[in-house]
Amino acid sequence: MKVVKTIAEMKAARRGLKGTVGFVPTMGYLHEGHLSLVRKSVEENDYTAVSIFVNPTQFGPGEDLEKYPHDLERDLDLLAPIKTDIVFVPTRDEIYPPGYMTWVTVEKLTDPLEGSRRPGHFRGVTTVVNKLFNIVEPTRSYFGQKDAQQALVLTKMALDLNMPLEVITLPTVREPDGLAMSSRNVYLSSEQRKQATAISRSLILARDMFDRGERNTAAIKGKMAELIEKEPLAKIDYISVAGAYDLGEQDIIKTPTLISMVVKFGKTRLLDNIILK
Ligand code: PAF
Repeated sequence: MKVVKTIAEMKAARRGLKGTVGFVPTMGYLHEGHLSLVRKSVEENDYTAVSIFVNPTQFGPGEDLEKYPHDLERDLDLLAPIKTDIVFVPTRDEIYPPGYMTWVTVEKLTDPLEGSRRPGHFRGVTTVVNKLFNIVEPTRSYFGQKDAQQALVLTKMALDLNMPLEVITLPTVREPDGLAMSSRNVYLSSEQRKQATAISRSLILARDMFDRGERNTAAIKGKMAELIEKEPLAKIDYISVAGAYDLGEQDIIKTPTLISMVVKFGKTRLLDNIILK
């Protein structure tokens, strides 16, 4: 496994790869969710590259950029046994040198949900992923369904800009008690961690109601909120029931539907979703 720090080194390493290249962009502090993407890439491609870069431009003022968890040695130890070929770990200045002024934006799809709560977030994501795609030149790139809006936005970006690669979205990986894996779970106190299972339980409840024939969004959201509000440390930021491809809010469910939500525990925002087909 080769660890490279500069764009020049990454490009040189890429030139040496003759065959398909799978790419998993990450912000590090890897967990089983990331590793499931890397394993899929190894399975589907001749080579796999992973990037570890905490992208400052996708964090808003007052967000957790400076305290975002990191442990490069641990990440490298996790990646080595699953046959990662290249790990790209650039510095902030390497990606955004002084005088940097170019941005990539996807419109409309970035307005609701996370876009409305975190202005500028998706502009940072699409810009850095676009840059990483240009540097790594992957055949396929892998993202997790947990960040459903991000996956949709990046798929649209690749399509609209005729990028010569496939964007692949893979299922959310969960802890045994249902909590979606996230690098930010480490911020939770043990009491918050216990109560956080209400998020996946509320999504299961929504799916059960849908399976029993409920199509009224208000009824489903009401029951989900009731379940979460039983947990004293949980504060609902939003619950959304929207078209899975256009993210337009629905009053009556018309599948495919994305039920997505953010619940806050203290300052930690936990994101989760399911798709009803
Ligand atoms: O999902 C993430 O970790 C980040 O948003 C990504 C895609 C690596 C871009 O910084």
